[in-house]
Amino acid sequence: MIEIRNVSHRINGTPILHDVTCDIPRSGITALIGPNGAGKSTLLNLVARLLPLEQGAIVVDGEDVSRTPSRDLALRLAIVAQQVGIASRLRVQDLVGFGRWPHHRGRPGPQDAAAVAEAISDFGLEDLRHRFLDELSGGQQQRAFVAMGFAQGTDWLLLDEPLNNLDMFHARALMARVHAQTRPSLDRPRSVVMVVHEINYAAGWADHIVALKDGQVSASGSPKDILTPATLSALFGMEIRVEQVEGRPLIMHHL
Ligand SMILES: Nc1ncnc2c1ncn2[C@@H]1O[C@H](COP(=O)(O)OP(=O)(O)OP(=O)(O)O)[C@@H](O)[C@H]1O
Ligand SMILES: [Mg+2]
Repeated sequence: MIEIRNVSHRINGTPILHDVTCDIPRSGITALIGPNGAGKSTLLNLVARLLPLEQGAIVVDGEDVSRTPSRDLALRLAIVAQQVGIASRLRVQDLVGFGRWPHHRGRPGPQDAAAVAEAISDFGLEDLRHRFLDELSGGQQQRAFVAMGFAQGTDWLLLDEPLNNLDMFHARALMARVHAQTRPSLDRPRSVVMVVHEINYAAGWADHIVALKDGQVSASGSPKDILTPATLSALFGMEIRVEQVEGRPLIMHHL
């Protein structure tokens, strides 16, 4: 479980997160939803320690993140951030291989090669593995970064808008892959936290939803409880119709 307790955060003196408290359950998919600027990326970056924690506490599986040595944290938790700056002359295979660094620290072995090959295959990157990142399309680059996160082989994987730029085939494939790897019946299920704007992917695949608005948790719970017209309308400030299809909410936000 990730326990987030009374986390507040300022950037250049401006308050961004206000006393955020929530639990993210172990195994399964937690979708972090909310309007642009709500603080989703800031919260994810604090959990992964890409930003220093100023106030409050974040505990991952019983370990306080601010006191965990970097290598231990990297073996336990991976993040694919929203702004992934492209190192241009890097090949896809080498980028995915970076995910293994915390394991081998410069001397990759057969296990590392196997993990890289698996991630490359999982994300349909076989034909692109020798290509340079700056010669790929936006969606292809996105898949390469997500594959790097998977290759890290951590129990926790934080994905900030992993569906960005993906076509519907690759978006669905990503969700199905994440879903399959997070089932509690597995020997070692992963736990994935992902920021999603495409709300119907959260409706279709998430086990748990955390909604952020104006730097605060405005709702959290199961998709059935959170993805209602009342909660979504309050969250996004627009009228939103929700239908039920095969027992799941289908959010009619596009009309
Ligand atoms: N480096 C920065 N300097 C100043 N303000 C920042 C900085 N990074 C983020 N902010 C502000 O913090 C707030 C929260 O940003 P954050 O990136 O966490 O939002 P978000 O929920 O991820 O939004 P989006 O859906 O657009 O990605 C925004 O108002 C943003 O303008
Ligand atoms: Mg963001």
